[in-house]
Amino acid sequence: MQVLVTGGAGYIGSHTVLSLLQSQYDVVVLDNLSNSSVESIKRVEHITGKSVTFIEGDVCDKAKLRQVFSDYTIESVIHFAALKAVGESAQIPLSYYQTNVHGSVCLLEVMQENKVNNFIFSSSATVYGEENQVPYVETMKLGTPSSPYGATKVMVERILADVALANAKFRGVSLRYFNPIGAHESGMIGEDPKGIPNNLLPYVAQVAVGKRDKLSIFGDDYPTQDGSCERDYLHVMDLAQGHVAALDWLNCHGDFTGVEAFNLGTGNGVSVFAIVNTFEQATDQRIPFEVSPRRAGDLAAFWANATKANQALNWQAKRSLQQMMIDTWRWQSNNPNGYLEQ
Ligand code: NAD
Ligand code: UFG
Repeated sequence: MQVLVTGGAGYIGSHTVLSLLQSQYDVVVLDNLSNSSVESIKRVEHITGKSVTFIEGDVCDKAKLRQVFSDYTIESVIHFAALKAVGESAQIPLSYYQTNVHGSVCLLEVMQENKVNNFIFSSSATVYGEENQVPYVETMKLGTPSSPYGATKVMVERILADVALANAKFRGVSLRYFNPIGAHESGMIGEDPKGIPNNLLPYVAQVAVGKRDKLSIFGDDYPTQDGSCERDYLHVMDLAQGHVAALDWLNCHGDFTGVEAFNLGTGNGVSVFAIVNTFEQATDQRIPFEVSPRRAGDLAAFWANATKANQALNWQAKRSLQQMMIDTWRWQSNNPNGYLEQ
């Protein structure tokens, strides 16, 4: 069985490709390398001892997509390819709608032409918006995210619902990720942000390795226990295995049609101060920080109700916060410049 993984060279994609290979799936990756390096795929091949078919290409390029579906027997698609920087999405919204929404439409069109109906989409907790109360549960209505990035995820979820109404054979899964962090335990693959990291853990890791002076903690006056924001951090390998669980579920439920959403999180909220403390304790590194003003668009606290994925997919986030920190640090300290030559 061949699985097409768009964006498979990226952070979550590369860990998922690794898990798919270890679960006996054959993988074809399509990635335009706009935010990744093919080195991640080479390292996945090294770790697993298996090979990956890598195609450099854009999800908006329908001719390329048609070629891929004609050259390979694709049974399922996992769609990671997207732009993902929340702040940047407010500055260049059209690029976000182009890649994230138009790219998904192109992919779904070519899937339809080739009668491929199994689709797993990288959605996000951001689709719950500001309206819903925590913990977020899949029965809640889609909300209004504060960024164009978040809006693209809501739009694609809506598109999937419409595609399923029009095509009685469509089998879609939206996986709503909470905050993936950490790296594969080998320390060979991990998150390699270009430029200044937007996300907390890559920033903490770059402070620890001496590439940044200190962390800015965005706000200590939120209505939370210690005043900093709380998020549901999960290990990227647990998240990767969530994709395998979703694909196994689709393959075991041949009569399923429609679209199902699943939250992938631990169910626990953890504050920014707690992240810094746990990182320091787990790695024996010191993280100098200062408290800065709040970042626009940040919600005070959110975490998952992950019961649906626990029960239906038989999936659970198993790795501890301490493990997430140790694995982040192993990756960062072994690869201070990410996938660039050391
Ligand atoms: P990433 O940037 O590391 O991976 C995305 C990959 O897609 C990259 O390899 C990039 O080169 C590729 N890509 C981008 N535009 C493309 C295009 N037009 N055609 C082909 N390839 C393209 O990001 P990630 O953190 O691995 O995120 C993967 C997915 O998960 C994204 O859809 C993202 O929105 C979603 N997501 C991520 C998080 C998170 O915290 N990292 C949270 C929720 C959802
Ligand atoms: N933070 C800091 N300093 C930093 C970076 C982040 O204090 O340098 C704080 C933020 O204010 C926030 C928390 O750390 O309170 C987590 O921030 P991230 O940017 O790591 O993550 P977000 O929760 O803002 O967003 C992430 C993804 C989004 C996704 C969302 C929900 O980046 O794509 O989780 O899944 F939509």
